[in-house]
Amino acid sequence: MLERRTHTAGELRATHAGADVIVQGWAQNVRDRGGVVFIVLRDRYGTVQVTLDERSPEAARETAKKVAQEYVLQVRGTVVERFKPNEDMATGAIEIVAKDLEILSSTKPLPFSVSAAQVDAHEETRLRYRFLDLRRAQLQHNLIARHKATHAARQAFDAMGFLEIETPILTKATPEGARDYLVPSRVHPGQWYALPQSPQLFKQLLMVSGFDRYYQIARCFRDEDLRADRQPEFTQIDLEVSFPTRDVIMEITERIVAAMWKAVLGVEVGEVQRIGFHEAIARFGLDAPDLRFGMEHVDLTEAFAASTFPPVAQALADGGIVKAFVVPGGAEASRKVIDGWTAFVRTYGLGGLMWGKLGDDGLSGPLGKALPEGMGPDAFAALVGASHGDLVLVGAGAASAVHPGLGRLRVAIAKERDMIPADTYVFCWVLDFPMFERDDDGNWQAMHHPFTSPIPEHIPWLGTDKMGEVLTNAYDIVCNGQEIGGGSIRIHSAEVQQKVFEALRIGPDEQQDRFGFLLEALAHGAPPHGGLAFGLDRCVSILTGADSLRDVIAFPKTTSAQCLLTDAPSSVPQADLDVLKVRSTVP
Ligand code: AMO
Repeated sequence: MLERRTHTAGELRATHAGADVIVQGWAQNVRDRGGVVFIVLRDRYGTVQVTLDERSPEAARETAKKVAQEYVLQVRGTVVERFKPNEDMATGAIEIVAKDLEILSSTKPLPFSVSAAQVDAHEETRLRYRFLDLRRAQLQHNLIARHKATHAARQAFDAMGFLEIETPILTKATPEGARDYLVPSRVHPGQWYALPQSPQLFKQLLMVSGFDRYYQIARCFRDEDLRADRQPEFTQIDLEVSFPTRDVIMEITERIVAAMWKAVLGVEVGEVQRIGFHEAIARFGLDAPDLRFGMEHVDLTEAFAASTFPPVAQALADGGIVKAFVVPGGAEASRKVIDGWTAFVRTYGLGGLMWGKLGDDGLSGPLGKALPEGMGPDAFAALVGASHGDLVLVGAGAASAVHPGLGRLRVAIAKERDMIPADTYVFCWVLDFPMFERDDDGNWQAMHHPFTSPIPEHIPWLGTDKMGEVLTNAYDIVCNGQEIGGGSIRIHSAEVQQKVFEALRIGPDEQQDRFGFLLEALAHGAPPHGGLAFGLDRCVSILTGADSLRDVIAFPKTTSAQCLLTDAPSSVPQADLDVLKVRSTVP
């Protein structure tokens, strides 16, 4: 019979000795030592040893013989100080001598061990049996950290006067650069809702309504190519503020970060540096720079202008750039390792990687041939900041290939060579983003989203040949090389918003059709406003050191957007589609 629990498995200490307790949980481990049975009982709070020996009634000892791993048990017993404490267990000073043992639930054979320190199953199996996988200490820890982070964020928002307000899930498309998930309407056949890519437009409307400070822990849906740092369904900590300067939003954001890092890790987040977008690209090749280690990039475009080495000369003739970075002590890297790095940068569109090792006989390797006439190895070493024993890596080509290629390689090498300090969190703001970038077809698209305000001086440049130079009031916050949040000061004038739409070739009809409600709201007394959204999953993955976002989401999707536990997505009977007036073209 189920009785009321008196204690959790994790809380019993020597001070409880002599107490009669009732604990419930899972049998993590069962050992039968010649008639004496030891069960390690586990719940979310910890583990405790239960002992059944001659002090236990016969019936309990008989039941103990039937217990297997992961059976659910209820134990009534007396807390007894252990003769030999187990230092590895928080409850190791005591054990519970069982007076009564009840099996509340048994289990089918387990597909993998829940208690093994190392996971011994394929991720597919773990995801299929996610309810078991989630029993593992690591995932319990991650989800508890996630709770602590959101709880701390909520408290910090509340202290700053923010209101938590929900926005719709069945809504109209908001462009955040991905495809929408669509939901057919039964009541309005042929019409579709979109799941929100973010609450962007609703939070702007809330500012127009005068709520002044809004936040929401909001689910977002984006149908995009997935990577380890992306999920089709993910969570943002979303905020918006009326009458803000950029600094106000940055300050609020820093407070939320500080609250989350303090709550989960006990770490004080110091000052957050600020870097311009162009500076970030120049120094690190990426707009989400990892500042935990060096190996900054050096621009050699001018210094190599006279180089006749074909890859360099060709790149420069095509309007490309030449950049380098130094791998400290990298001269001992083998040919095979360097070939691996070359293959790596090729995936970013770079033709190859030129390398040179600084040793006793100067600069060895292909790079020696690339130096322009008149530049000796010493001058080159001084230019790139390399010393004896270092390896210099150089990429030449289009900026759009050199920057990400060398940028990602810098990070990959730092990881490979163990150059990243452990338990270190380095934050930075990336500021002064261009408003527009060219898409694959050469058309302008908004780099953040089209509701971001250009800086006032650049508004006249919209739609002109200076589009590429228009800067915004947008800001990203980056931690350890990951963009953990992004936001901007918004456009609060219907005219400017229309100008931006026009500059993006969104004509008046389409503007009305897709964003008519926003334009209407902006034309009815919209306050200046701005905000930001954190990627909660990314924050928690950094806070817990998880390798993948899947490890910080209770029920995640695979990289092909499937839920292996429920087998979603799945087909539905034609009859259900008929009701929706939807016909599948898939046989
Ligand atoms: P943005 O698109 O930059 O901005 O998203 C904000 C943050 O959300 C996280 N993120 C993701 N995390 C997991 N999986 C994904 N697929 C994914 N996509 C984004 C990132 C990112 O920094 N409405 C704007 C915010 C604003 O302007 O206020 C927006 O959604 O950490």
